[in-house]
Amino acid sequence: MSYNIAVDGPAGAGKSTIARAVAKKLNIIYVDTGAMYRGMGLYMLRRGIDPEDGQAVVAHCQEADITLGYENGTQVVYLNGENVNAYIRTEEVGTVTSRISVLPPVRERITALQQELAASTDCIMDGRDIGTCVLPHADVKIYLTASSAVRARRRYDELTAKGQLCDLAQIQADMEERDYRDMHREVSPLRQAQDAVLVDSSDMTPEQVIERILELCEKRD
Ligand code: DC
Repeated sequence: MSYNIAVDGPAGAGKSTIARAVAKKLNIIYVDTGAMYRGMGLYMLRRGIDPEDGQAVVAHCQEADITLGYENGTQVVYLNGENVNAYIRTEEVGTVTSRISVLPPVRERITALQQELAASTDCIMDGRDIGTCVLPHADVKIYLTASSAVRARRRYDELTAKGQLCDLAQIQADMEERDYRDMHREVSPLRQAQDAVLVDSSDMTPEQVIERILELCEKRD
C-alpha cells in the first residue's frame, strides 16, 4: 500500500510550495493536480473553445491527452506529448481552467489518472477535491487556507517578481470569484474533508506550515 498525503485548499494558499517541500523532506513524489487541469484549460484556450460552452468542452476534452512525467525531480505536464509547463501558469489559463473543471467528463478523466498514480507511488497530492473525492482514504489530509487578502498579496508578489505588471485589487477580485466557483460547483466542490486538519497559513511562514504538516505525518506513522 502506498502512503498518500492529500492537501486541498483555495488558490494561492501556498499548497504547491508547501507540498513540494514536504515531498522533498519525505522523499516522496509531489503531484500538482491543478497543473493537470490547467493542461486541459490550455488545450481549450488554444483551440478557441468557449469555456462556458460545456457541450463543446466535453466534446473536445477527449482529444487532450494529459500525462505527467518527472524531469530532474520536477513535475512536467504533457499535453498531447508536448511539455506545457511554461504555458499553464497564467491567470488567463487559471480562469479558463476553473470554468471547465466544473464538468464531470473533464474531472473523470483527470481523477482516474490521479488515482492510478497515488496507488502506485507514495505521494503528496494537492488540489481541490483530493481528500474528499480522489483519495478519500489518504493517510493524512490537510486543508490549507489563508485570507483572500493574504493570498492575493502572495500571488501579486510572485507575479511582480517575474516582471509581470499586475493589479492587486484585480487579483483579489479574480481569486474570490474563482474560490466561489470552485466551492459552489455541483461536482467535487472545494471543501474541507471531515477528517482533514485545517491549517490557516495567513500568519505563518512557509517553514512553520511545513513543520506542522510533518508533525501531522509523524503522528500518523
Ligand atoms: O491549484 P490551481 O490554481 O493550479 O488550479 C487551477 C484550477 O483547476 C482551479 O481553479 C480549479 C481546478 N482544480 C480542480 O478543479 N480540482 C483540482 N484537484 C485541482 C484544480
